[in-house]
Amino acid sequence: MNELTEKDLLALHDEYTLNTYSPHLMLVRGAMSNVWDIAGREYLDFTTGISVCNLGHCHPRVTEAIQRQAARLVHVSNLFYNENQPRLAAVISKATFGGKVFFCNSGAEANEGLIKLARRWGAERGRFEIVCMEGSFHGRTLATLAATGRAKYRKGFQPDMPGFVHVPFNDLEAVCDAIGPQTAAVLLEPVQGEGGIVPATGGFIEGVRKLCSTEGVLLLFDEVQCGMGRTGHLFAYQAYGVTPDAMAMAKALANGMAMGAFEVRNEFAGALPPGTHASTFGGNPLACAAALAVFETFEQDAVLENVRHMATRLWQGLEVLRTRHPEIREVRGKGLMIGVDVGRPVADMITAARAKGLLILPAGETVLRLLPPLTVQPEEIDLALGILDQVLADG
Ligand SMILES: Cc1ncc(COP(=O)(O)O)c(C=O)c1O
Repeated sequence: MNELTEKDLLALHDEYTLNTYSPHLMLVRGAMSNVWDIAGREYLDFTTGISVCNLGHCHPRVTEAIQRQAARLVHVSNLFYNENQPRLAAVISKATFGGKVFFCNSGAEANEGLIKLARRWGAERGRFEIVCMEGSFHGRTLATLAATGRAKYRKGFQPDMPGFVHVPFNDLEAVCDAIGPQTAAVLLEPVQGEGGIVPATGGFIEGVRKLCSTEGVLLLFDEVQCGMGRTGHLFAYQAYGVTPDAMAMAKALANGMAMGAFEVRNEFAGALPPGTHASTFGGNPLACAAALAVFETFEQDAVLENVRHMATRLWQGLEVLRTRHPEIREVRGKGLMIGVDVGRPVADMITAARAKGLLILPAGETVLRLLPPLTVQPEEIDLALGILDQVLADG
């Protein structure tokens, strides 16, 4: 078979792929914190597939689990039990708030599940509306677009699905005003990702929890991006000392295998009885095997401890950069989910960093987003800081 060159592959991409993305590099290989492009150039990856490969690329334990399971059983449908799904549900439940778990394949699908839960739970109570946050991002399906608090994603797809209202994030009074007899749930990201890396304040999240409890409204957390160890806690909500009634997770759950899930507190789990929700691929033995290896790695390799140590190093380094480059308006986030607001469009800086061998992301217009692997090493943090320093100096 003739080898295709990068040029050939890009031509195929242009001709046959729906043009919804604007990709840059053709990446062909990854190992922990590094990826290589088709020309053999190496990059330090502080994007982790947008917080998906949180344990690093091709983590040996996850790779081994996938290989072993792929040779045993890949898919059977949810009309049969498989041996990995109950194990994984138990691991997730025990590590969080002891609820029941439904498996799916993506963040949007997990949030769709939360929305369906809220609607079905609310149906008997005359409640249907979901209070969502401005600046939030919940996915690209029609319901999750309607929940998303940034109008630009909905443009051209109107009419919006009804039943969603938006209030300013971190504004407790606004949430209070928005809750009425028709409200079924409040949905929020404990740390907003796409919206510019904005953590909820403690007072806000505690206040919303209290409000939801007194008003009889479900509190739903979208931990698709901020979950799975990213903030130094397995789930971001755990740092706030509040518990949601249901939570969506995805992205890093299986370190790169497509997987999403939502978990529902036991007392609300009856809202979705048999026949009310399903997903063909959800919870298949292969994705579950990968996710089980992910949780095993968190436990055996003290991953959260590494996040805390490396976060301290990275935040300290960024503080030094802030004093050297006054254009940095703010460094914000939690753990290894960091936004550096430089007060101007960041596209050129991302390109410049890439040319120097560092991959980083935008979040909103003016924010550089750093999402290193949770397994990142001190010398990699220092290398990234050095490149950022140069990029900022070059303007
Ligand atoms: C907080 C949050 N929710 C939901 C999603 C959607 O996830 P997916 O792209 O897997 O559907 C994302 C994706 O970036 C996200 O960051």
